[in-house]
Amino acid sequence: MLNRRQIGLGLAGLGVAAAARALPAGAAAGTRKFPEGFLWGASTAAYQVEGNNINSDIWTAERAPGSPYADVAGDAANSFMLWPVDLDLVKNTGLSAYRFSLEWARIEPRQGEFSIAMLDHYKRIIEGCHTRGLKPVVTFNHFSNPLWFALAGGWHNPEAPDLFARFCAKAAAHLGDGIAYAATLNEPNHAGHLPAILPPSVSSWLLPADKAACEAVAKRFGVPLFLAGNNVWYPDPVVVQAHLLKGHAQGRQAIKAERSSLPVGVTLAMIDDQAVGSDTRMRDNMREKLYVPWLRAAQQDDFVGVQNYERALWDAKGRVAPPPGGDRNMGGAEVYPASLAGVVRYAHSIAKVPVIVTEHGVNSPDDGVRQRLIPAALTELHKAMADGVPVKGYFHWSLIDNFEWGFGYKPQYGLHSLDRQTFARTPKPSAAVLGAIARANAC
Ligand code: FCB
Repeated sequence: MLNRRQIGLGLAGLGVAAAARALPAGAAAGTRKFPEGFLWGASTAAYQVEGNNINSDIWTAERAPGSPYADVAGDAANSFMLWPVDLDLVKNTGLSAYRFSLEWARIEPRQGEFSIAMLDHYKRIIEGCHTRGLKPVVTFNHFSNPLWFALAGGWHNPEAPDLFARFCAKAAAHLGDGIAYAATLNEPNHAGHLPAILPPSVSSWLLPADKAACEAVAKRFGVPLFLAGNNVWYPDPVVVQAHLLKGHAQGRQAIKAERSSLPVGVTLAMIDDQAVGSDTRMRDNMREKLYVPWLRAAQQDDFVGVQNYERALWDAKGRVAPPPGGDRNMGGAEVYPASLAGVVRYAHSIAKVPVIVTEHGVNSPDDGVRQRLIPAALTELHKAMADGVPVKGYFHWSLIDNFEWGFGYKPQYGLHSLDRQTFARTPKPSAAVLGAIARANAC
């Protein structure tokens, strides 16, 4: 049993030993070589791992009367304190890059008040990456916003793009030099569209619950609209999408104004929508609504971040069930390894810029599912690259089990498990599977 001091001093070293011992059969890399310099990484997001993000909108949303959140984030993985341990985990897994996000609410806790100390905190993480030979890939905003921003209507507020761009400018001025790749927003293409994606059995209760919780917060603070960064309910999805697209463009300009050579993009949630039969209209409608505006916007970017967890089959009438058998995730949904390559090919066909897989993984308490998924998905990704799609890197979601938004702590996406009492991280065998591929740069 590890105590807190041991965690601080060298959990990662212990982690490597455990991972090496646990190297599962089949973890050896294959002969499909990836290009030199290909980024092998793991992803996290500030709100999901840092803990005590008390100035963030979601901290308040979780506590609203009737809130649909299963848990409050609380201490999360305590990565605000334990980020050096996390960086050691990335390094010792054999990876070459780390994707993490800035918590806007720490950097600008009150509108217009910027914290140099907090900017320095993130600077130390970036420097910590370089010390370990890791490339830092930094998301400027991964769902969670400052409370003051949400109380002003969040992304519904016409001033939102300017407010976000000002934050991007401050953060890029302080941090830009050390960042390898910058992403403005995480999965903005889903904002307002989740009701079309979620099963009706979920959206039928989630949507009204989310709306009621937002209204309760607005009432408590005496404002017309409270809108958190990862809402399911939006008063007007069309308005919010327009503001997010503007926010991304202005954010990119603000970052580029500080350091023109820094590659900037946006990370998109993409389901591999496939048509069953010859009628492709349903599939095409989904693509048109969820991805096309953002993939067109990404034509102005340096790369597009693709995040994939599943495929969806569409016939002329709607979504159809996948074939029976095969691995399933914790929710019972199909685990389909080729979906990643499917969305990567599609994203590049429209965006026409290099792709980075900024998230891919599976929610499963059975790590065997993850151990099978990683090499199978990478084999298909390699085929897409052999066909000419420029892919710069692969980041697994997630480095550690963490706070999965409305689902709380139950989902398990991590390459490492988390003890929520001691904050000990323990490598799962899948970490060794990905690490073996990364070290060999081949699958
Ligand atoms: C993505 C989010 C990420 C995580 C994974 C499971 O949609 O970007 O924060 O929750 O799903």
